[in-house]
Amino acid sequence: MRRLRRENVRVLFRETRLRVEDLIVPIFVDETARDKKEINSMPGYYRLPLDLVLSEVEECMKLGLKSFILFGIPKKKDEIGSEAFKDDGIVQRAVRAIKENFPKAVVITDVCLCEYTTHGHCGLVRDGEILNDETLEILGKVAVSHARAGADIVAPSGMMDGMVSTIRSALDNEGFSNTLIMSYSAKFASSFYSPFREAAESGYRFGDRKSYQMDFHNSDEAIREVELDILEGADIVMVKPALAYLDIIRRVKESFNVPIAAYNVSGEYSMVKAAIKLGFLNEDIVYEILAGIKRAGADLIITYHAKEIAMRLKS
Ligand code: PBG
Repeated sequence: MRRLRRENVRVLFRETRLRVEDLIVPIFVDETARDKKEINSMPGYYRLPLDLVLSEVEECMKLGLKSFILFGIPKKKDEIGSEAFKDDGIVQRAVRAIKENFPKAVVITDVCLCEYTTHGHCGLVRDGEILNDETLEILGKVAVSHARAGADIVAPSGMMDGMVSTIRSALDNEGFSNTLIMSYSAKFASSFYSPFREAAESGYRFGDRKSYQMDFHNSDEAIREVELDILEGADIVMVKPALAYLDIIRRVKESFNVPIAAYNVSGEYSMVKAAIKLGFLNEDIVYEILAGIKRAGADLIITYHAKEIAMRLKS
């Protein structure tokens, strides 16, 4: 076996290749910001005002990164998250600006209410309960408003039952039959999201997300979630988080023949950055982690490390 590992030949036998095209860059566009604001718990990552989003996209495109997923932080929040489906909402404006300036960019939008509601939950709330069917109608409106602004792909992340079929019909009815759906299909209720809640201001006022996000002890259930999303019309299914869920990625890969995205989430990023900062680990682990996610079966990876990896792949 060791003959295969000799310095000059080993590259011939490399089974997994991480390509810059596989990476999706998360962007936080902040309507309340004048300048870029570093996210405390995510060193080196920022919330950006709209004008700086364009320079960020430009920088990424130069590195070969052309896919972006947008999260909006609105000025105003209310009970039903109305800013999420306004035609001139912060995300809708960002999509238009990116598409105008960089027609080749692939723009993905997160379709959820948590950043837009005062209570911070991903759906409408009544008597402390997160409502399913009442939320669906709003998610349809959010997705259509994103498609109208020019989004290529909408990504519902709220884990409401039936969200994919509702969004598919809403898009088709409004003439957006070419807009893809990337569903956060197997999204687990995870502590790995806590830095994101600071990043996107999506922390909740009461309770937790366990009535809609999955129990991390389960894997059969993830397969059921993915199967339903495929039947409802998802073009891409997602597993989230990634690192502690590589077995789920692999099972989805072996069970279905659809494109799979993995979300290398905020907590995974922060953990790595903290260890590097303390000198306990070095930067090489970033590439190793992403290669591992790819090897598990992910076609696409959403990651806050996209720029550093793109630079490494270039050199
Ligand atoms: C919103 C949403 C969350 C993330 C992506 N979309 C937070 C949550 O569900 O609490 C997490 C992303 C990350 O941690 O990087 N529903």
